[in-house]
Amino acid sequence: HRHLLGIEPLRPDEITTILDLAEQYVRFNRGRDKHANALAGLTQINMFFENSTRTQASFELAGKRLGADVMNMSMQASSVKKGETLIDTALTLNAMHPDLLVVRHPHSGAVDLLAQKVNCAVLNAGDGRHEHPTQALLDALTIRRAKGRLHRLTIAICGDIAHSRVARSNLLLLHKMENRIRLIGPETLMPTGIEDFGAEVFADMREGLKGADVVMMLRLQKERMDGGFIPSEREYYHRFGLDAEKLSHAAPDAIVMHPGPMNRGVEIDGTLADDINRSVIQDQVEMGVAVRMAAMDLLARNLRARPSEVMA
Ligand code: CP
Repeated sequence: HRHLLGIEPLRPDEITTILDLAEQYVRFNRGRDKHANALAGLTQINMFFENSTRTQASFELAGKRLGADVMNMSMQASSVKKGETLIDTALTLNAMHPDLLVVRHPHSGAVDLLAQKVNCAVLNAGDGRHEHPTQALLDALTIRRAKGRLHRLTIAICGDIAHSRVARSNLLLLHKMENRIRLIGPETLMPTGIEDFGAEVFADMREGLKGADVVMMLRLQKERMDGGFIPSEREYYHRFGLDAEKLSHAAPDAIVMHPGPMNRGVEIDGTLADDINRSVIQDQVEMGVAVRMAAMDLLARNLRARPSEVMA
């Protein structure tokens, strides 16, 4: 592949290749010397049109650890504020010959559109409610490490499914890897026709969690609710907030995940989130750097295999 725009086009063996390479980078990142040269000589530009802590920091670290020249565009201070379009911004940066563009954008499909206009590799760091492929890959690596496998597991994804690119990318990946997926949440936050993706849908959290091996929590994505119905946080926590009692319905060794940012006391009890015997939330952050290193390393191998477009 030339780009990493989503999980949708990836085959199961390609997912496994990324995770296997990421596994090597997990070991590398735990070592003292964190300098490698897989991206040496390449330029990486990070363009985040939406807020981020984990994704932006880990893409920046990943690029630097692999020897790329990394530039973080401050989109708040860019000429987008003067009315320049996404495409004009991308064409402007493209003229500076980057090799890797990492893009987050609030609109679904914006990153795919941008990828058609530039001649470098594009990585989707989250577009609207569409896809967040590196999040699903880091979640998959976290699950594979904790459970020893990434198939035939019962995985519950709980919360605001309708607005979640994390849920969508995870659903695609976990379905390709032949897991049983349960989606739990209020009917108002469940997309219609989601069963067609091969998931079971539950409005009762205890029922949905029954025997689950993995419990993945999502926050209420109010920024994408467009003035629609927003549940009260108290009521939401009562019905869908994960606490020790609700978790007791899952398998005794179920792991608890959350992509972050987390709202303690809304979708998850803070003590449970911090319980290192159940929660793998910090492992997810660690896997994020390794997975992004693996994804960029593999795209760079493709880039280097193509003839360079040196101007006369
Ligand atoms: N999980 C995730 O995408 O977090 P950020 O929004 O902080 O990057």
